[in-house]
Amino acid sequence: MARHHSSNIRPADDDDALREAIAALKAGQLVGMPTETVYGLAADATNGEAVARIYAAKGRPSFNPLIAHVADLEAAERLVLFDPVSRRLAEVFWPGPLTLVLPKRADAGVSDLATAGLDTLAVRMPSHPAAHALLKAFGRPVAAPSANRSGHVSATTAAHVAEDLGSAVAIVLDAGPSHVGVESTIVAATPAGLALLRAGGLPREAIEAVAGMPLTIVDLTDPEAPTAPGQLASHYAPGAMVRLDVEEVFPGEALLAFGADLPRHAGNAAVTINLSERGDLIEAAARLFSALRELDGKAATIAVAPIPTTGLGEAIVDRLRRAAAPRP
Ligand code: TXA
Ligand code: MG
Repeated sequence: MARHHSSNIRPADDDDALREAIAALKAGQLVGMPTETVYGLAADATNGEAVARIYAAKGRPSFNPLIAHVADLEAAERLVLFDPVSRRLAEVFWPGPLTLVLPKRADAGVSDLATAGLDTLAVRMPSHPAAHALLKAFGRPVAAPSANRSGHVSATTAAHVAEDLGSAVAIVLDAGPSHVGVESTIVAATPAGLALLRAGGLPREAIEAVAGMPLTIVDLTDPEAPTAPGQLASHYAPGAMVRLDVEEVFPGEALLAFGADLPRHAGNAAVTINLSERGDLIEAAARLFSALRELDGKAATIAVAPIPTTGLGEAIVDRLRRAAAPRP
């Protein structure tokens, strides 16, 4: 079946196309960004609603933290705290297919949705000249997962991006096929040392040679894997109890509301945050993690109003269900 789509594919080396892509990012829209590894689905990482559009476009039923792409080391230093070994890795391997997961700075300004609420942030400086030009001119961190729909293989050409994402992207910058062709290698700096979170375009041995230490291999896909103390938490969990789909609010609970209709006895709530009074799931996703953090600690229980499970609602509800699940 020939698919009809309305994607705006433009040569990456065209100045007008670059200006259009920057204007799109500034307007909170999505851009297909070529990098040396794979094409990225790019949005302004500081704009929560723009980041929410990434998840909506990918059709992913859950939120996964995203990589913040930057033009240079100085821009990365404004987002995360480097330890000496991580800085050495950045100096040697950037720009290039290495992503570093580091403690996020309090003043990073990156949307909570981009990190899925984590205190760490993945950063990467791509070597592709088109990505560099876009990031340099935009001047803000860009969140970009691989530009494929959920469950599909990563896109390595502009045509793949257009086929998978169609009109969800304002413009796709076409720089030909990505030459590395696999995603970046992801390394996390933990108190226990360096951990390899994803094998990718930069070989582990090259990283170990510069770091002067072996990388611990963390298989995030293995639910049986032992979780050592200090090992990185892949999901933010609130300390409060979370009660879902509430029809009635009990005295002293924190209320996480959605839409114009509040549950019964909403006035009982010690504190209320409405994810979106107008019932907009993009706005709700953009506010989800900061709302959870704000309500957490203000009450023993967070009562959550019913949220539709269509579109982005599926990922929002998935996140809330995890927060509500009994914890060890
Ligand atoms: O080559 C690449 O890295 C491409 C290009 C576009 O730059 N991007 C990419 O992004 O592959 P994505 O979203 O498809 O994969 C990023 C991975 C995810 O598995 C995510 O869980 C992990 O990075 N990740 C992001 N932030 C993290 C964090 N703070 N802690 C642990 N893992 C993180
Ligand atoms: Mg991916």
